[in-house]
Amino acid sequence: MIHDMKIAFVGKGGSGKTTTAALFARYMQQRGHRTLALDADINQHFAAALDYEGKLANMGMEIDRIKQHLAGVNALFEIDEMKKTTPPGRGSNLVTLDASDWFMQEFTEDADGVRIAGAGEIPEGNVGVRCYHSLNGAVELLLGHMADKDDDMVIVDMTAGADALSSTLFAKVDALVLVVEPTRKSLGVYVQLMPAIEKYGLPLYVVANKTVEQSDTNFILETIPELVAVLPQSPYIRARERGQHVKMERDLINQLGILAAHVLATPRDWQGMQQRSYELHLKNADDWAGEQIKNQIDPGFSLANAVTRLQK
Ligand SMILES: Nc1ncnc2c1ncn2[C@@H]1O[C@H](COP(=O)(O)OP(=O)(O)O)[C@@H](O)[C@H]1O
Ligand SMILES: [Mg+2]
Repeated sequence: MIHDMKIAFVGKGGSGKTTTAALFARYMQQRGHRTLALDADINQHFAAALDYEGKLANMGMEIDRIKQHLAGVNALFEIDEMKKTTPPGRGSNLVTLDASDWFMQEFTEDADGVRIAGAGEIPEGNVGVRCYHSLNGAVELLLGHMADKDDDMVIVDMTAGADALSSTLFAKVDALVLVVEPTRKSLGVYVQLMPAIEKYGLPLYVVANKTVEQSDTNFILETIPELVAVLPQSPYIRARERGQHVKMERDLINQLGILAAHVLATPRDWQGMQQRSYELHLKNADDWAGEQIKNQIDPGFSLANAVTRLQK
């Protein structure tokens, strides 16, 4: 079955995560998919890459309000006991991409048809770091409570390199897209990310970016056996950076289409997602958050069933 899902773009800083995530979001939206772009990077460039010039509500600064909403009337915990890994249970509010949804109204803006959310400006220094961690927590909670429908595409722009593993956010999507340039450093990120990705059984799509000739692709293939798409070094992207507009190259469009076909064909596994999120929550309890958060897991709750009910 073909359907949309939640995906996150990862890769070394500068490899083209934000650019390709924005191109992919636009590609999907233009083909009729309801699309939400979530910026989870400390360097907030996703909105700009989608030509959105206004301000964004800061999800990080408002994490308490987001918690309050998501917790709903869930009786298993108080708001101040809620962690970023706290899973939904009976009484929780799930989030949809419907225009009437609380989250969509409060935190998203319209970028020419793509809904976008993030933090907007993150202040520099200590405050910035704190704010960024809350942003990550907010995005992770949101993804954990997301009941996106089968024609809803959710695209997350993640923080650079192995930092993507510093939170458990990466495990709250259905698949990852790794963007690699033909450089050793870029391939290094693949080696760093692979063990965690395999451990949680996440589907991974690797996209080569900024390739000029066949030897670039071959270089990447020496380390990564499977590339799903090969994006060229693009005059269109370069012109955009200068604020100029040229037609998008056919090859770039074709490669986005190939990536889309892979993503849409990925089996969707709500039960697996729930299982993964419980595992990570329990691990959080053992690592630092304490035993008491273990009973935030509601044995009588099925994410798959809750989503099915909402999709009707
Ligand atoms: N395929 C491409 N062709 C030409 N320039 C590209 C391509 N992909 C990305 N770039 C450029 O590379 C730079 C880094 O891209 P960006 O998406 O910001 O990387 P990241 O989000 O991974 O840090 C930007 O200036 C962007 O325009
Ligand atoms: Mg970026």
